[in-house]
Amino acid sequence: MSFRLQPAAPARPNRCQLFGPGSRPALFAKMAGSAADVVNLDLEDSVAPADKPQARANIIEAISAVDWGRKTLSVRINALDTPWWYRDVVDLLEQGGDRLDQIMIPKVGCAEDIYAVDALVTAVERAMGRTRPIGFEVIIESAAGISHVEAIAAASPRLTAMSLGAADFAASMGMQTTGIGGTQENYYMLQNGARHWSDPWHWAQAAVVAACRTHGILPVDGPFGDFSDDEGFRAQARRSATLGMVGKWAIHPRQVALANEVFTPSAAQVAEAREILSAMAEAKARGEGATVYKGRLVDIASIKQAEVIVKQAEMAESA
Ligand code: COA
Ligand code: MG
Repeated sequence: MSFRLQPAAPARPNRCQLFGPGSRPALFAKMAGSAADVVNLDLEDSVAPADKPQARANIIEAISAVDWGRKTLSVRINALDTPWWYRDVVDLLEQGGDRLDQIMIPKVGCAEDIYAVDALVTAVERAMGRTRPIGFEVIIESAAGISHVEAIAAASPRLTAMSLGAADFAASMGMQTTGIGGTQENYYMLQNGARHWSDPWHWAQAAVVAACRTHGILPVDGPFGDFSDDEGFRAQARRSATLGMVGKWAIHPRQVALANEVFTPSAAQVAEAREILSAMAEAKARGEGATVYKGRLVDIASIKQAEVIVKQAEMAESA
């Protein structure tokens, strides 16, 4: 490890973030009753411009009127290139009450975007005497966002999580696709006439994970648009979990169980992790730093890998 230790990410479950438009308040109680760890009430792109003020009012009322249980409650505000975002922040913080845990800032392109929102939030919090600071989560969904991802991850102690948003990201990058995440038909390698599909989101996901892990925030995979394709969702989510992401968005309630399934380590994975920890404890007692488990090498790094899985399982149990 570097002399500068890697900070731990917030110890809270974030396997699934369920989204719903602020303009559909009939969904709020259903979202609260879902099995998602995080609820994201949306003021941004699922709300038509004419509906923004009413959506804001709906959300402000629901923050205290709905019983959100132990969920992390987040509101996605409008982006900084719109005329709406400052009023989203001011009204949510002045009128929304203390139950709101965090705001999600979309389309972040540079660290200064976070700085601007932080300055406004800090002023309103002070004016209101709010004692529990509002957290931030951000969406990386543009060429600028991915180019500045490390500086963005370092931008504020309020940051708890960062999502990669496939749709806006693809548009900003000029990618020739209308798909939201998942396999893209034309992204393949050809070998002896056979097509082998690759993952066009991989590099951006890895960049997000590295920036998040460097600065102790949670890396999250954004939406998967085709909510009738459960296996496609699972495949995308499994790749994200393998790369180090902790959870995924649900844009329809049927995706919640799928995300929870993938981002909760299976009983077999947890059992194997615990066996590796015991094998290493025995090796340590013998004065050895490495040993053999099921015919393969395990060493001190394996302890850390196994601990990731055990901690994920413990976090899921606490949800
Ligand atoms: N959260 C909770 N419940 C939801 C829901 C959501 N986001 N979306 C739909 N439901 C409920 C419906 O009310 C319905 O409930 P019922 O069985 O009690 O009648 C049930 O789930 C099935 O809904 P369905 O008819 O399949 O969906 P729909 O046509 O009402 O809505 C969407 C489909 C995609 C428009 C809707 O799910 C949605 O708005 N998703 C979120 C979009 C969003 O927030 N985007 C921004 C982030 S990318
Ligand atoms: Mg977007």
